[in-house]
Amino acid sequence: MTDKTSLAAGTFAGARARIQDNASRGLWSSRWVFFLAATGSAVGLGNIWKFPYVTGQNGGGAFVLVYLACILLIGIPLLMAEVMIGRRGRANPDGAVARLAREAGASSRWRVVGWLGGLTGFLILSFYLVVAGWALAYVPATFSGGFTGVSGEASGELFGALLADPLRLVVCATLVLAATMLIVGFGVRGGLERSLRFLMPGLFVLMLVLVVYAAIEGEFAQALQFLFVPDFSELTAQSVLVALGHAFFTLSLGCGAMMVYGSYLPEGTSIAKTSILVALADTAVALLAGLAIFPLVFGNALEPGAGPGLIFVTLPIAFGQMPLGQFVGGFFFVMLVIAALTSAISLSEPSIAWLTERFRISRTKAVLGSGLVLWLLSLGSVFSFNHWADYQLFGKTFFDTLDYLTTNWLMPLGGLGTVLFTGWVLQRHVVSEAIGIRNAGLFQAWWKLLRYGTPVAIVLVFLNLLGLI
Ligand code: TRP
Repeated sequence: MTDKTSLAAGTFAGARARIQDNASRGLWSSRWVFFLAATGSAVGLGNIWKFPYVTGQNGGGAFVLVYLACILLIGIPLLMAEVMIGRRGRANPDGAVARLAREAGASSRWRVVGWLGGLTGFLILSFYLVVAGWALAYVPATFSGGFTGVSGEASGELFGALLADPLRLVVCATLVLAATMLIVGFGVRGGLERSLRFLMPGLFVLMLVLVVYAAIEGEFAQALQFLFVPDFSELTAQSVLVALGHAFFTLSLGCGAMMVYGSYLPEGTSIAKTSILVALADTAVALLAGLAIFPLVFGNALEPGAGPGLIFVTLPIAFGQMPLGQFVGGFFFVMLVIAALTSAISLSEPSIAWLTERFRISRTKAVLGSGLVLWLLSLGSVFSFNHWADYQLFGKTFFDTLDYLTTNWLMPLGGLGTVLFTGWVLQRHVVSEAIGIRNAGLFQAWWKLLRYGTPVAIVLVFLNLLGLI
């Protein structure tokens, strides 16, 4: 009712009050649900598809160690900052940053940090859907025994045939998009929360089953050695940058995703503790994925550094050889789709929240409108592998360009904006109160890291990308 009255007043203040009205925006029903949602966002293709293949490409243990350091020293401080901005701003990333800037007496131009994040998430989602679609396509292909006894070459050809078939790719990406939009369309409580409650625990259980299977059937000791015994001679400057970039991607940072989830977080929950738990869970899933995949890779004499095809080309060979492989493999791809879906939801929520709050359109309209734009954009990614494979800009297809632009530029830029805003624009006491770290020493350590360590690390990445270092 307050909602209606304020709207009826028709004033700017009324609209703002509506935006900030927690009841109308919806809140997670508990800290546990926020934890599920944030973990669902963090855990995705990044953990299960990307982490194993970049680890394989970068030599294993030493890379894993650097990646863990990046999560700890850069990822966690930034994650806490994003959640804090969201909860204190109680709006979509654009609105939340603008509000906090105004409170701090700073220029509301800082809101660019918010909307750029939403835009980045939107662009990522358009190609993320396509990769999630590959995983979806592999579900029936694996369950039906399509990979039984397959050779390396034949598996590569099967993957190639999928990429060459725009219709199959479009159908799969569209199904993932439809599922994402359906869930997001039902809103925070109704849609996101209800689905996360069973999606996340289900994912964990499937993951454990697969690790146990890999431990029994694969070369577990060799995988442990590969993942956890660092060989620093394998580590290059480039690997350090890959590790940093991946830390961003895997924790869903720099896109407003964690801000918007933070904006639904009830008061009184410790942001620091919850963020650390989310990072731990995310890391645990990545390591579990490594433990599920590498024993099979080594057990079947496959190449750990095979690249993005590690899962889609080499794993089916392993599934094709092992007893009951079609079921283990089928479940594996189901798991990948689930993980991708909970991430896709978080990639779309910042822009959906922005559309509904900024332009006061209904959630349904926002979902249908952005769904259509996303679908059109995703066609560009689909055609990058077939019809448009030859149309390249600077040697990159549409898909590669989007990936490069978002992962290497827009996400770190969003992260940099967020840390500079939090560390240098917001007042220390405001941040301290909002973040809720009671131990003064701990707060000081986080604050220093956020003001100096994190921005310097991100700037180093940019300088490297520009070829300056
Ligand atoms: N973290 C997810 C993964 O590892 C991907 C993701 C979801 C994401 N939301 C994001 C990446 C926001 C960047 C920004 O697959």
